[in-house]
Amino acid sequence: MDTSFFFLFLCLSQTLPLSSSNTFDTLRGTSLSVENPNDILVSANGEYSAGFLSVGDNAFCFAIWFNKSTVSTVVWMANRDGPVDGRGSQLSVLNEGKLILTNSVGITVWTTIAPALTSSEATNLQLQLLNTGNLVLHNSKGGSFWHSFDSPTDTLLPLQTLTMVSSLISRRSQEDYSSGYYKLFFDNDNVLRLLFQSPTMTSLYWPDPWVEDPGLVGRSIYNTVGQALLNDSGYFWSSDDFTFFATDFGAVTHRRLTLDPDGNLRLYSLQKMNGSWDWVVTWQAFSQPCHIHGICGPNSLCTYDHVSGRRCSCLQGFKMKDHTDWSYGCEPEFSLSCSRTDEASFVQFEHLEYYGSDLYYHLNVTLQQCQDICMNRCKCKGFQFKFSSDGTVGAYNCYPKFLLMNGHQSPNFEGDFYLIVPRIGLSYNKTTGEELRLECSKQQRITYENKTVKLLLWFATAVGGIEVTCLVLVWLFLSRSRKDSNSAAQGYLLTNRIQRFTFDELRKATRGFKEVIGQGAGGIVYKGVLPDQRVAAIKRLNEANQGEAEFLAEVNTIGMLNHMYLIEMWGYCVEGNHKLLVYEYMEHGSLAENLSSSTLDWNKRFEIAVGTAKGLAYLHEECLEWVLHCDVKPQNILLDANYQPKVADFGLSKLLSRSAVDHLSFSKMRGTRGYMAPEWVYNLPITSKVDVYSYGIVLLEMVTGKNPKGLHNSDSGETRDHKRWVTLVRGTIDIENATMSWIEEIIDPMMAGKYDKAKMELLIKVALQCVAEDKDDRPTMNRVVEMLLSLEE
Ligand SMILES: *[C@@H]1O[C@H](CO)[C@@H](O)[C@H](O)[C@H]1NC(C)=O
Ligand SMILES: *[C@@H]1O[C@H](CO)[C@@H](O)[C@H](O)[C@H]1NC(C)=O
Ligand SMILES: *[C@@H]1O[C@H](CO)[C@@H](O)[C@H](O)[C@H]1NC(C)=O
Ligand SMILES: *[C@@H]1O[C@H](CO)[C@@H](O)[C@H](O)[C@H]1NC(C)=O
Ligand SMILES: *[C@@H]1O[C@H](CO)[C@@H](O)[C@H](O)[C@H]1NC(C)=O
Repeated sequence: MDTSFFFLFLCLSQTLPLSSSNTFDTLRGTSLSVENPNDILVSANGEYSAGFLSVGDNAFCFAIWFNKSTVSTVVWMANRDGPVDGRGSQLSVLNEGKLILTNSVGITVWTTIAPALTSSEATNLQLQLLNTGNLVLHNSKGGSFWHSFDSPTDTLLPLQTLTMVSSLISRRSQEDYSSGYYKLFFDNDNVLRLLFQSPTMTSLYWPDPWVEDPGLVGRSIYNTVGQALLNDSGYFWSSDDFTFFATDFGAVTHRRLTLDPDGNLRLYSLQKMNGSWDWVVTWQAFSQPCHIHGICGPNSLCTYDHVSGRRCSCLQGFKMKDHTDWSYGCEPEFSLSCSRTDEASFVQFEHLEYYGSDLYYHLNVTLQQCQDICMNRCKCKGFQFKFSSDGTVGAYNCYPKFLLMNGHQSPNFEGDFYLIVPRIGLSYNKTTGEELRLECSKQQRITYENKTVKLLLWFATAVGGIEVTCLVLVWLFLSRSRKDSNSAAQGYLLTNRIQRFTFDELRKATRGFKEVIGQGAGGIVYKGVLPDQRVAAIKRLNEANQGEAEFLAEVNTIGMLNHMYLIEMWGYCVEGNHKLLVYEYMEHGSLAENLSSSTLDWNKRFEIAVGTAKGLAYLHEECLEWVLHCDVKPQNILLDANYQPKVADFGLSKLLSRSAVDHLSFSKMRGTRGYMAPEWVYNLPITSKVDVYSYGIVLLEMVTGKNPKGLHNSDSGETRDHKRWVTLVRGTIDIENATMSWIEEIIDPMMAGKYDKAKMELLIKVALQCVAEDKDDRPTMNRVVEMLLSLEE
């Protein structure tokens, strides 16, 4: 490791050798010298170069780089962990059929293995850089003895096979090319895996380590071969059945699969943006970077929010070990002796998970027993206390830890962590963990308070004039609880093909953004016909200052939400400031447009109510990410050719610029006037119940045919008027004693006499529960579905 630390400092800057005009793809002579700037091989297509690359002050590595991108990209290195000096170093082809790299004093720092060559084979040896980026040593008779493709560093190029004997190893950092801590490789069963491997520990983190049997996540196990390959169209295939498609699958472009220094495996495509060629991410293994092991080092806590990205912090009582590098984590500011029963106590952190490093595990124990176990083990740094159930019986299990690694907090994690700390000297209390703690309600839902907004709230946004303002709280977590770990929740199962479009394609598809079919949160929606003749709804987002990688991550997230009552996203476009989303087109437009027409008979209305509830319930409870819609209203419920509803615009606010929003003024944010829950007005914690409330209003609107906004015109009187509307409905109908005549008074005259009385009563009853002032009196979306379906049986 010492050398790599040394070169961390040496390799801080890089400059590429100047390219010469007279370039060759094949070595003339027997060696390339570090001093001669012309000693560079350039592939026949001009896209790849091979030669000595400066990686620091008088430090050079022999490398292959791609130079069509605006910033050259290193795709391979011979001596990444042992740079040579800038004088006298050279790469030579030896007659016995091997390459050696020697430094200024003639010491070999890198070499290939010599094949057993006959003397006739060993003539006319040539080193050639092919158009694919593969550097090969071959003879004029077509025998080839060595390929750089066989020993990748951190990047796999199209048509380069990853095998059982090769692996990708990340670099230490973006500036430091030396070997880092992350590795992509085939394990003994030939399952493709990602491994964190630091000087002190190793841990597998992909596929999900909770999954003991990778077969459960679609991997084939006990394979006899391990091979993986990326093709030019953006299709990745591995022999353990793991496959994925790039989001721009099909497009012919340059691609590379790189294990980045942050432990995430990403596929990049070369795309022209504003006249310059840049790499854009078209697939990644993790959308939640805190699930990558080792990322923040020991005794730390990883948090991710979409605004500031990944953040590491130390647990209370710990301080950062090396201020330049989080991988060293944090060290305690206190010390505890081994006989510590009298001097130590525990601090609780809710929903905090430390993965791995268990001393042992104890099933079905009490908290007190678990504390005693930890207290009496000298090595114990704390313990995970977690409820687990096998369906019928549940019990608390205890996992004392000797090392606190891979810490992250997720409201979905049904367990707490207890840290052992000195009882005196440092004063701990549960509330000091403020910035570390997530406030979760009894039902494992997120709520938040003003002070924790920064941490919990990715952003909220106000867009589209005064009407359309919405706050969306999204807790982006992949399901990590053990019981869910075999679900399709893992990011790497993301193989759905959200297509990437160019701005030009979408301009053509919409004939220059001519036909406006809607205007919703964050942008205008146009009708368009895609190149493959599918009719689409194309939403052009207003200004979005979000970075491309985040945008892509969010698009992936939305794309993963897949439900028959949610609108389907087909693709997107991001080019400079242009950000567009491509959705399926819904023949009958929105519920809002249809409410006043007579086409929506009672049966259709009831079905729409049920379908919408199912879609929202999925968003709230079942999907891998916990999404609040926050802008449920008839304009966002679309109807297909059969008048089946699909909820639109979910997750969208994540994609919009947060610039307009000041955290302090979030109390002013809200959904659309009329559909907004009282929590927004009174600045109370926002939970999924805000959507329940809005849904209730939509039901009332469907029943009465009256728009909650129609009752007032002034901005200021909105809450009062709105309340009056709800009260009116509520007061008119005493649901317990509801009689036909009461119902007749409030319902849409269009439906008079044409409805099912029992169902109507049920619908109104559910609606009134949904619009309860106190969020705790409102049912969950799942409960709503159950209630609405109760009459079906
Ligand atoms: C790539 O290499 C070629 C040949 O040496 C050179 O002409 C070209 O300018 C280089 N491009 C970049 C972006 O460095
Ligand atoms: C890549 O693989 C996919 C899936 O097998 C295939 O459809 C596509 O044609 C391939 N592309 C190339 C360039 O071979
Ligand atoms: C793209 O070009 C436009 C004008 O040509 C410029 O305003 C914009 O800043 C450029 N964007 C990037 C990312 O370079
Ligand atoms: C846990 O232990 C208690 C008594 O020690 C026992 O009654 C209970 O059945 C156990 N639960 C499970 C799930 O084993
Ligand atoms: C403990 O909590 C109280 C508030 O409940 C707070 O005032 C105090 O500063 C906390 N102690 C420490 C050490 O942070």
